[in-house]
Amino acid sequence: MTEFYSRKHWEETAAFVQSRTDHHPEIGLVLGSGLGAAAEEVRDADRIPYEEIPNWPVSTVEGHSGELFIGRLHGQMMMAMRGRAHYYEGYSMSQVTLPIRVMQLLGVHTVILTNAAGGLDPEMAAGDLMLITDHINLLGMTGANPLRGPNDDSLGPRFPDMTQVYDTGLAAVARQTALEAGIPLREGIYVALAGPSFETPADLRFLRLMGANAVGMSTVPEAITARHGGQRVMAVSGISNIAKLEADPSSETTHAEVLETGQVLVPRLLALLRGVLLALPAAS
Ligand code: HPA
Repeated sequence: MTEFYSRKHWEETAAFVQSRTDHHPEIGLVLGSGLGAAAEEVRDADRIPYEEIPNWPVSTVEGHSGELFIGRLHGQMMMAMRGRAHYYEGYSMSQVTLPIRVMQLLGVHTVILTNAAGGLDPEMAAGDLMLITDHINLLGMTGANPLRGPNDDSLGPRFPDMTQVYDTGLAAVARQTALEAGIPLREGIYVALAGPSFETPADLRFLRLMGANAVGMSTVPEAITARHGGQRVMAVSGISNIAKLEADPSSETTHAEVLETGQVLVPRLLALLRGVLLALPAAS
């Protein structure tokens, strides 16, 4: 496991990716658990299996068949990741966030992050989309911040501001799209935990008390890295299951449930993406 990657690694990976495509991606898209099928919509795609890419973290989790799709979607030139690696798989934060650094070096100015998450609000339902308006980095508060280690000043500052991680302009477009397309879109705060075990009812009550609306095991390290490097960020959770705030041995939370709900979520996510991508200035 490489604890800290540096420009040498990012450049090596970026050069490899660029050698496999003539496209010049401007928008990054990370598709989380159960949402990977959305990558199939990318047109004229150059596809690169993660295993072939030097330094790239390969996910070991079911539902995350790892492949990079570089091509067009709704007038934008995309670098779409079907699947991501997680901290709980044993990767370092630097490995988990390497794809974001590579996107930065390749000229990607906007990243759209997606994930599967557990809903903490009682009015949420499995299959809802939630626009992330802010996050609680519980993972980072215990030391696992992706910016820990040497800082590359050419990318961003040692102590980057995080008062507005999620771009308000992109959020406004997402809201408008959801309204016009009739897609229910919730909004809220995502709390990142390390996983891989799901939360206990007491954990979940604690997370609610601290003001979180959804809980998951990804996205925040990528969002912090993206902001550090000056990218615009939009993030959406697919609510795959609802938190069980009281002990209930008759209903468990399972990864299968997370993947199943993905099938409902993918068409909604695609409709949302369509509106957002069409609203951005078209790629050259
Ligand atoms: N908890 C944490 N991560 C998750 C969940 C959950 O309930 N559902 C999907 N990812």
